[in-house]
Amino acid sequence: MSHTRTHRVAVIGGDGIGPDVTAAALQGVHAAADRFGFRVDTTDVELGAQSYLDTGVALDEESTARLREHDAVLLGAVGDPRVPPGVLERGLIVALRVAFRQSVNIRPVRLYPGVTSPVAGVTAGNCDLVIIRENTEGLYTGGGSTAHAGTTHAVALQHSVTTVAATTEVVEFAFRLASARRKRLTLCHKKNILVHAGQLWQDVVDEVGARHPDVEHDYVHADAMCQHLPLDPGRFDVVVTDNLFGDIISDLGATVQGGLGLAASANHNPAGSAPSMFEPVHGSAPDIAGRGWANPAAAALSGALCLAALGERDAALALEAATAAVLAELPALAGPGMGADTAGIGRRIAQRVADADPAAIGDPATSLMSALAGLTGR
Ligand code: NAI
Ligand code: MG
Repeated sequence: MSHTRTHRVAVIGGDGIGPDVTAAALQGVHAAADRFGFRVDTTDVELGAQSYLDTGVALDEESTARLREHDAVLLGAVGDPRVPPGVLERGLIVALRVAFRQSVNIRPVRLYPGVTSPVAGVTAGNCDLVIIRENTEGLYTGGGSTAHAGTTHAVALQHSVTTVAATTEVVEFAFRLASARRKRLTLCHKKNILVHAGQLWQDVVDEVGARHPDVEHDYVHADAMCQHLPLDPGRFDVVVTDNLFGDIISDLGATVQGGLGLAASANHNPAGSAPSMFEPVHGSAPDIAGRGWANPAAAALSGALCLAALGERDAALALEAATAAVLAELPALAGPGMGADTAGIGRRIAQRVADADPAAIGDPATSLMSALAGLTGR
């Protein structure tokens, strides 16, 4: 087979466990490229705490321009005790999501066979949903003010922004994804209290839903979701929600599916006007950095989402299956009890991908990897 297709991927390892889990994930990505006959050319981009401490800027224009030349960005994690909280998270990650118009945050919540959920009753058969979180608006735009700061009369105003434009873009993507999967969409909000934003979301869901009559849709309040998601994940297929609620319920989802070491995500630009960015949900984990105990599964599954979004469906499915199989072999999902170090787990995933039989991949059309490849692949 000739190696004609080449995908250019920028890699930001970042801080703490970020570089280690990313290196392990890349072993799986490269193995998948070799096995399925394409190339992944990577460029390391040094961003994160050290470059911020050296230069005083979290994200400079030259780095943004370099990242933009790629087909996708893989990110490890950023965050460092030497840098004030928020500087890198907002100045780098949020800034990239906005600059690259990554309005759709994709967070799969899937329990793989052989992995035990900390929540009793959750099984591989009833836990396979996708949270679609609006990624650029809501309360996270940062606008607001504080009057009488530091006094007993202090008043803080924190603005929330909800536009029809961004909401429609994310809801349209969620319906298309649901249509490719089990054809059920749930809007999660708090429309009984946040009446203005909530009504806008509901109106957009009703309007976009009318164009997707094959997809059933319903509504769940964000607080009620915190009960339904752990107790009855099987009732959900695609959950669409705003930035704040998405942040909260997707961490709950990460716990349900086995922990932060297993939770992957994509920051997706649905228009294709700039690269999408793929990253584990976890942060830089300074408490375990350098010990070799970080679980690279979340990073590897983010690599699989990246391959799917690049249109490499079979490679994505093989990398996902290999990661799930290695997870099922581990005696523990994090810490010294894992039985292998981060790089060793990366090697095992890569070996399984190398041994994958392309004829046995099948066509699980409703899987997220297949659906994503169908929706975004070039
Ligand atoms: P964290 O996700 O880094 O860690 C939370 C807990 O989970 C820690 O006990 C950690 O050891 C454990 N953990 C995380 N990933 C793991 C893995 N792959 N394997 C095994 N255990 C894992 O969140 P935390 O501690 O709140 O934040 C640390 C830093 O990361 C902060 O600076 C924070 O702002 C930043 N952060 C960055 C994110 C990003 O780059 N997207 C996302 C979340 C936090
Ligand atoms: Mg979060």
